[in-house]
Amino acid sequence: MTQYGVLLLVLIFASLGLSAFAIFISISRYRRNHPRASALPGSGEDVATEAARKVLREFEKNGQSVDAALVTWSPDTLRKILADELPDAQVIVVSNREPYIHNETKDGGVELVVPASGLVSALEPITRACAGTWIAYGGGSADQTVVDRNDRVQVPPGHPSYTLRRVWLSDEEYQGYYLGFANEGLWPLCHIAFTRPIFRESDWEAYEAVNRKFADTVVAEARNERPIVLVQDYHFALLPRMIRERLPEAIVITFWHIPWPNSEVFSICPWRERILDGLLGSSIVGFHTQYHANNFTESVDRFMESRIERADAAISYGGQVTLVHSYPISIEWPVELLKALPNIEECRVRVRKRFRIPAGAKLCVGVERLDYTKGILDRFHALEELFIRHPEMVGKVVFLQVAAPSRGTLPAYKQLHEECLRCAEELNQRYGSDSYQPVVMVAEHHSQAAVYELYRAADICLVTSLHDGMNLVAKEFVASRDDEQGVLLLSTFAGASRELLEALIVNPYDAAMMSEAMLQALTMGPDEQRERMRRMREIVRDNNVYRWAGSMLLDAARLRKRGDLDRVTALYERPNAPTGDNVVSMFERKQAVGFR
Ligand code: F6P
Repeated sequence: MTQYGVLLLVLIFASLGLSAFAIFISISRYRRNHPRASALPGSGEDVATEAARKVLREFEKNGQSVDAALVTWSPDTLRKILADELPDAQVIVVSNREPYIHNETKDGGVELVVPASGLVSALEPITRACAGTWIAYGGGSADQTVVDRNDRVQVPPGHPSYTLRRVWLSDEEYQGYYLGFANEGLWPLCHIAFTRPIFRESDWEAYEAVNRKFADTVVAEARNERPIVLVQDYHFALLPRMIRERLPEAIVITFWHIPWPNSEVFSICPWRERILDGLLGSSIVGFHTQYHANNFTESVDRFMESRIERADAAISYGGQVTLVHSYPISIEWPVELLKALPNIEECRVRVRKRFRIPAGAKLCVGVERLDYTKGILDRFHALEELFIRHPEMVGKVVFLQVAAPSRGTLPAYKQLHEECLRCAEELNQRYGSDSYQPVVMVAEHHSQAAVYELYRAADICLVTSLHDGMNLVAKEFVASRDDEQGVLLLSTFAGASRELLEALIVNPYDAAMMSEAMLQALTMGPDEQRERMRRMREIVRDNNVYRWAGSMLLDAARLRKRGDLDRVTALYERPNAPTGDNVVSMFERKQAVGFR
């Protein structure tokens, strides 16, 4: 080869090298500027890595352990955590509301109802994944006819994967424990909705007795002395202590699904010390937000002889340690039932036809239990404000409120129901016509599939709670919108507003502000809707319910390991215990396993 030939070859290789380098730099730059670019089909691992990194940063920022963040959360992840970290552990869930209710039908058959409950939507996929046992009050009219002789029934129907163990309550028990102490006492105490809590001695007695009944059932269902018991909500504040007394080696994780008030408000409860003592029987007490966790710690600090280790988020009380953490609850991702639903366009057509929404009117939906904490009346006021401030919007918007009747025998709930109906009627009379009704109010239970169909048909979803632990309607709406369209109006007083920052965040007490947010939502272009919805979908996908449960289970595993080591170490601390290398290595192991 001549000198020129060699030079030519060198030039060719140099330019190839430069081009490759330039391509590499462009790809790196693009990935840096488009962190979700890897969300293209086929690059699942990158998605997981990016999600994990993001969660990792968040965890580190909160001073939390990092390993919970290093995984992509799915049912398999949960099963793996259980198998690796908590081998042979039996998972027992306890809640008041059961995941499946069997009711008698008029023709003598049995129908199955999935209740309107955020708790149920979150816990159901978890219990399925863990193949655990769920203990709950059997309130359906046909519940007793479908159980076996041990009051158990395998669920979900058609694909049984866990055991539902039903607990029966007398009318007096139900009245005192559920309607009385839980829902007339604790519910208004914990929510800032300006409904006065009512405390009756007889309700408290029923509450205590029913908590004991559930403790007996937990002990009866436990296959050994070391189950993991997931106690749900304000119906069972006394249960953790009762379980601890009978199964000292159980891990009891209590999750409080509603807000926890500040200590001043909490102090009005006549049995405040008993409630705190009961909850401090838990290994872990979880809340949706750090703010509610702090309120709880502050209440313990004020009323109990305890030592608070703020840096470790731990409370020492009566010789036992309880961790107090926030674990924001979520929903399954992907949502299983979406697979069976029609596409968005068909959902729109079906819903608009069913509720006679005139063409040219945008559809706003509200979906929840008929509860005074949800801000339903405040939505009506905001709609009226919208019509007053922007009369051109009359005829261009319909508000469909679906409200599942709940706790309907209580005066506060009856009154709310009547006020909602009256308000809807007044708005329809004032602003409606033969062909246009601005408000459609349906006070009926809807199946989950029907609710998801509504979400998919909506232009706007209104979640305007006066106070809410999390609010899963907000997350369900986001999960339902695979078309990346639709606007979420979200109350700043719902825990979900800490995560879904791209929603239009509103103060439900400010009707003028809410009406302007409604206008903004009604006139928002598809590009902005897509940007906001895409970001919110990433958040709900990454922070799904498997992460919620997985983080708690990982913390439980750490506690169990530490407890096991403490027991072994205690052996070595006895007089005449072995000395030398063994003791040193045991001590080192104990240090290494320390949590938080
Ligand atoms: O999420 C709060 C909560 O009270 C759950 O505990 C409960 O399942 C849900 O709302 C519905 O309430 P209820 O079970 O009283 O109908």
